[in-house]
Amino acid sequence: MKLAQWLKSNDISAREFAARVKTTEATVSRLRNGRAQPSMELAQKIMTATGGAVTPNDFLDFSPSGQTGEDRLTGSRILLIIAGGIAAYKSLDLIRRLRERGANIRVILTRAGQEFVTPLSVGAIAGSAPYTDLFDTHTEFDVGHIRLARDSGAIVVAPATADLLAKMANGHASDLATAVILATNSPILLAPAMNPSMWAHAATQRNVSQLAADGLSVVGPNEGQMAEANEAGVGRMAEVPEIIAAVEGLLDPHGVKPLAGKHMIVTSGPTHEPIDPVRYIANRSSGKQGHAIAEAAARAGARVTLVSGPVQIPDPPGVDAVHVESAQEMLAAVQSALPADVGIFTAAVADWRTENQATQKMKKKNGIEEMSLSLVQNPDILKTISNAAERPEFVIGFAAETEKVIDSAKTKRRNKGCDWIVANDVGHARGVMGGEVNAVHLVTEREVEDWPEMTKDEVAERLIARLGDHLAQNKASA
Ligand code: C5P
Repeated sequence: MKLAQWLKSNDISAREFAARVKTTEATVSRLRNGRAQPSMELAQKIMTATGGAVTPNDFLDFSPSGQTGEDRLTGSRILLIIAGGIAAYKSLDLIRRLRERGANIRVILTRAGQEFVTPLSVGAIAGSAPYTDLFDTHTEFDVGHIRLARDSGAIVVAPATADLLAKMANGHASDLATAVILATNSPILLAPAMNPSMWAHAATQRNVSQLAADGLSVVGPNEGQMAEANEAGVGRMAEVPEIIAAVEGLLDPHGVKPLAGKHMIVTSGPTHEPIDPVRYIANRSSGKQGHAIAEAAARAGARVTLVSGPVQIPDPPGVDAVHVESAQEMLAAVQSALPADVGIFTAAVADWRTENQATQKMKKKNGIEEMSLSLVQNPDILKTISNAAERPEFVIGFAAETEKVIDSAKTKRRNKGCDWIVANDVGHARGVMGGEVNAVHLVTEREVEDWPEMTKDEVAERLIARLGDHLAQNKASA
């Protein structure tokens, strides 16, 4: 990964580099760890900013899940559904790249999709004419929608429009695309693409959460410039290599979703404890670690309720997000999300809150130089839930420590009553709070695993994989 090497050898943070190339820190970290591909425009900015050290070609051949993807795609049968969105032009490249890797592609082009790409161009690239109509007698004699649904190793919906997501979430079968989706047993990958306001709308978020809970996978959407002038935000369809990596994941014969059927509650971010209507007590937590865990859990098939304090980052795709301010609200939200199979308590909950919140803005008074706040202890959410009657089967806490990291974490694991503690070495690693990397130790009942410094996304992936293994072993030995 050229960009990662360049940033490291020049000691430039993702945040600083993001400012130089006028993108977000999250985008830079996804590019750095190989989870995204830049637009041509961004790739060129990166080339300029790195003095030519990182070129657009350095992003071309990346395969995030390693080299084995090629084998998985060879001979696979993929059904691509192209719905009506401007991003449909990228689907032509997706077909080309999938075929280059040996996949057999069939395409359903919806009526709206045909407004953006023609059946002729899709057919020329895919090697066979796309299917367009549910009641096409020729098609029904030839393959039929049930066979189309059953014959595919994976179904990819790219672009998945807001309208199609809404229909899918509600089980419609009014056209060929929705009928096939309803009739299939194959894994389905959605690559949503739409205007940022449409993506952010509660209805779309509800539909995506429902589809994730139904076991569908989601890739993207990404943040960036939209095709419409002056429109930017989260809504761009994932780039082709990201979609291909996600397809590889779907086709992985060993990639049975380890957390399918599980409900997981994840807390994330800081809490804000009000002092008066305009002031509050807070901390530097960004929510990156908790959000990454929620996203990794959703990818692993869990239905995820993310209870987040106030953060500047978007809700991860495919999770049910509940937004709260204070520790008391966070506890109430967690309690109302129970029952759950797993709880992961990543939030940096404020230990104290003001005893009495002023109803009016507190004013300076002439001649009075000092002022004090009376604080009372907040509920310990992790401890409360670990000892609740409705305790999830498995509970994981976090512990940020600067000294005697492991001893303190071991004690904390026992005192709080959780199963595992992930201990953050906040004294050792650079800028853990709010930063991109984390150096952690996993403290279990029997052992302590020292994990090397890695990105928060990598910590999340590893923790969820470790959890999946553990739950599978428990089940096997039960
Ligand atoms: O005691 P300490 O704050 O170090 O414990 C950290 C762990 O406990 C984290 O998992 C955090 O989310 C959780 N916690 C909590 N409620 C609190 C304080 C901490 O859930 N009031």
